[in-house]
Amino acid sequence: MKLIFLGPPGAGKGTLAAKAVDICKVPHISTGAIFREAIAAKTPLGLKVKAIIDAGKLVDDDTTIALVKERLAQADAQAGYILDGFPRTIPQAEALATFSTVDKVVNFDIPDSSILERLSGRRVCRACGANHHVVFSKPKQAGVCDACGGELYIRDDDKPEAIQKRLEVYRAQTAPLIDFYRNKGVLVDVDARPSVDEVVANFKKSVVA
Ligand code: AP5
Repeated sequence: MKLIFLGPPGAGKGTLAAKAVDICKVPHISTGAIFREAIAAKTPLGLKVKAIIDAGKLVDDDTTIALVKERLAQADAQAGYILDGFPRTIPQAEALATFSTVDKVVNFDIPDSSILERLSGRRVCRACGANHHVVFSKPKQAGVCDACGGELYIRDDDKPEAIQKRLEVYRAQTAPLIDFYRNKGVLVDVDARPSVDEVVANFKKSVVA
């Protein structure tokens, strides 16, 4: 199954994807995670994109499209994938259509108030990337990842100014993809407001079944 997870920052795309890989048996490909790994490793790509991402802006289409094209050509993505955070612009969606088909696009439906609550409390594991939340998915030990014991940190783009910029960018450049994919008949709306378990159940019912 070839899936796109489309939604505003903090909607819960990465959290659902981490569960959906076991349900769908396909890899989770997150462009944001690929960029963050490159930044942590200080690769040429990481050095190029760090300031852009920290400011809440989008990396340029050519760089992002080339990266996804290369990733989707790998063996583990041939039977399907969950693309989380790509495409994010109409040109990215048009480019994707030239090198892959898509079965369903999951549109995460969530109000801004929930987004702010989720992003301001998010804590991410520096070692394995697992998401936690100070209220909704509280780690057993403060500052320590439940999954691997790694250090939890606050993403630089989860600072208030960057969150506002990411929301603006989402509305201007990514939200138009909702109609783009609805018109192609592949869009499935999922209510992203309830608990993680309920969102997973909604996903199984409306996307996988
Ligand atoms: P990316 O990493 O993709 O960021 P994003 O889209 O802004 O999404 P987030 O990771 O912030 O949120 P999410 O929806 O995954 O929510 P999460 O599951 O973590 O991209 C980062 C940056 O990289 C971009 O800004 C851009 O600069 C660049 N980039 C990436 N892709 C690009 C592209 N295609 N083109 C150009 N640039 C690109 O959940 C958030 C919090 O809520 C967590 O704490 C979680 O525990 C909690 N939570 C989740 N679900 C629930 C729930 N149901 N109930 C309660 N709490 C919940």
